[in-house]
Amino acid sequence: MALVTTKEMFKKAYKEGYAIGAFNVNNMEIIQGITEAAKEENSPLILQVSSGARKYANHTYLVKLVEAALIETGLPIALHLDHGDTFELCKSCIDGGFTSVMIDGSHHSFEDNVALTKKVVDYAHEKGVSVEGELGRLAGIEDAVNVSAEDASYTRPEQVEEFVSKTGVDSLAIAIGTSHGAYKFKPGQKPQLRFDILEEIEKRLPEFPIVLHGASSVIPEFVKMINENGGQMPNAIGIPEDMLRKASSMAVCKINIDSDLRLVMTGTIRKYFHDNPSHFDPRQYLSPARAAIKELVKHKIVNVLGSNGKA
Ligand code: G3H
Ligand code: 13P
Ligand code: ZN
Repeated sequence: MALVTTKEMFKKAYKEGYAIGAFNVNNMEIIQGITEAAKEENSPLILQVSSGARKYANHTYLVKLVEAALIETGLPIALHLDHGDTFELCKSCIDGGFTSVMIDGSHHSFEDNVALTKKVVDYAHEKGVSVEGELGRLAGIEDAVNVSAEDASYTRPEQVEEFVSKTGVDSLAIAIGTSHGAYKFKPGQKPQLRFDILEEIEKRLPEFPIVLHGASSVIPEFVKMINENGGQMPNAIGIPEDMLRKASSMAVCKINIDSDLRLVMTGTIRKYFHDNPSHFDPRQYLSPARAAIKELVKHKIVNVLGSNGKA
C-alpha cells in the first residue's frame, strides 16, 4: 500500500465522529512505537514532520522510515508537513513524497495568509496532495517561534468561510484555547476550550475537517517520572482527555500530539538510567522508550481519538 492523502480519512472520521491522531516523528524508535500501536489497534494514522524534524533527521531518512512502517503495518498512513511556513518548504515536501502539507500563515495578515495558502493549494492539488491552513494563533513554542499568551488569538468564526473558499484548503487548524508545548495552563488554572467557537465554525463550514494543534494532555505521571529521576520540570497542565474526546466527536478530524511523546520518551529514558546507571548501549534504553510510546499511542487511539478499528 502507498501513502494516502488525508481526504478520505477525514471524510470517514467526520461522518463517524472520531479523529485521526497526527503524531510528530523525529527518529526510528518514535515511528516504530507509533505505528506498532496503530497496527495493534487497526487505526489510520498521520505521521507529521516539522521543519525542525527535517533538519534533525533529514528528509530522505524520515520518508524511508515512514515507507518502512507502511510495509510493516499495511495501514492507511498519511505523511504530513507540520507548520510549513513558506511556499518553498511546502513545495520541497510535496516534490519529496509527502501526501499532505500544512501552510501556517497564521502569523500573517488575513489577506497575506489567504494569498500564501492559495499558492500552496494550487501547487499541491496539481500533485494530488492535501493542504491544511490555519486561522487564529496558538500560544506556545514550536521550532523557533514562541507565541506568548498575549499574542495568541482565537479563530474568528466570521472569517472561516471566506478563508476556505478563497484558498481551497482541505482542512483548517483553529485556535480555541489549546497551545503548543508542555505548559498550556498555569498551576491552579482550570483548562478550558472554546467549544462555542468550534460549534459556530462547524455551522459555517458543514462537513469540513477541523484540526486541533497543541492537543497533548501533558499526562502527570510522565512529568512525575521525569522529576523523580533527576529532571526539573515545573508543574505542567495540558488539555484534558475528555475535552479532546468531545472535540473528536464534533468537526475535529485531526488532533496533533507531540509533547506527550516527548515526555513519555524522556521520562522512560531518565528512569532507565536511574535504575541502570552503568548501562551505555543505546538499544537498552531506547527499547523501553519505544515500548512506552507504543502504550501511550494505543491509549490515545482508544480513549481520546476513537480511531481504533477504523483503518
Ligand atoms: O508544533 C510543533 C511540534 O511540536 C513540533 O515541534 O518544531 O520542535 O519539531 P518542533
Ligand atoms: P503539543 O505540543 O500539544 O503536543 O502539540 C503538537 C502540535 O500541535 C504539533 O503541530
Ligand atoms: Zn502545531
